[in-house]
Amino acid sequence: MPKSETDYEYEPFAQTEEYQRVNREIVSGWVETIASQGAGGVRALVDVACGVGTMAKLFLESLPEAWSRPTVTLVDMSPQAIDQARARVEPEVPAVDAICGRIQDVELPEAGYDVAIWGNGIHYLTADEQAAALNRLRPAIREGGWLLFNSAFTQESRPPETLQFYRAQISRAVRYLQSRGIRRERVEARPSSSTFLPAEHYAELLSQVGFSVQEVRTVAARLYQTAWEHISGFAQYAAGALHGYGTDVAAQAMRLAVGPAIEQYGVRDTEDRPYIQRNWLAAIARVG
Ligand SMILES: C[S@@+](CC[C@H](N)C(=O)[O-])C[C@H]1O[C@@H](n2cnc3c(N)ncnc32)[C@H](O)[C@@H]1O
Repeated sequence: MPKSETDYEYEPFAQTEEYQRVNREIVSGWVETIASQGAGGVRALVDVACGVGTMAKLFLESLPEAWSRPTVTLVDMSPQAIDQARARVEPEVPAVDAICGRIQDVELPEAGYDVAIWGNGIHYLTADEQAAALNRLRPAIREGGWLLFNSAFTQESRPPETLQFYRAQISRAVRYLQSRGIRRERVEARPSSSTFLPAEHYAELLSQVGFSVQEVRTVAARLYQTAWEHISGFAQYAAGALHGYGTDVAAQAMRLAVGPAIEQYGVRDTEDRPYIQRNWLAAIARVG
């Protein structure tokens, strides 16, 4: 059965070893920082743009054993994502709440959370929408609380020597679509996920909104063919990389183009497996 545009298929990529490893490293670093700064526990966590709940799960796994489990609020604009996240997080915590909507529009309780975690999603918003979202989040985090976010879509995420991989993937995908007689359907603004803002932008934005920036760092990850195929098959990624085509066909074409592009431009590991390095930005900011 063909996929519909409302299908939400992030889980295959979120379950890859590479994605789990890099996000686990980032999240456990955040928890260490929070614990080292004297926090005795986290009572309420909000997982912004929760997807399938990966960040909440990794956060729970990283908590010191002596800490009790927090309540979790899931926020995502996709109802399917919230359903998938709820199923994974609910068995682990005392209570789960969910808010379906765009983070820049939703109502959040004042000082309702100790920690807001926003994994792999801030780049979907324009700079103005990011400011609106952070202005909503800041009063929702209690004094002394934390905002934690990461993104692999910053200016620093794609080292210059890896750009030829992306170009090769896109041109192969376009050739594939043309060979099937599929043309660009819509001339539209580029989605925000295809603009790569620098780390400096995020540090400045946090300060402008009134957060105190604790750390902005880069974490490098090796992504292998299967991970690229999964992320390329995720409609929101494909729409950013190959905009103007129907998301389902774009995702299919991008996925098929991974193999030849990574064979040609991937760096070989010691087992001769090709990979492409991708850099994650990881930011920690505090209220007050
Ligand atoms: C790439 S997934 C990341 C999921 C998860 N946080 C993780 O780190 O694995 C991005 C998620 O952001 C959601 N999203 C995108 N824009 C959003 C917005 N403005 N408000 C709320 N959710 C949004 C998408 O529906 C998607 O579930």
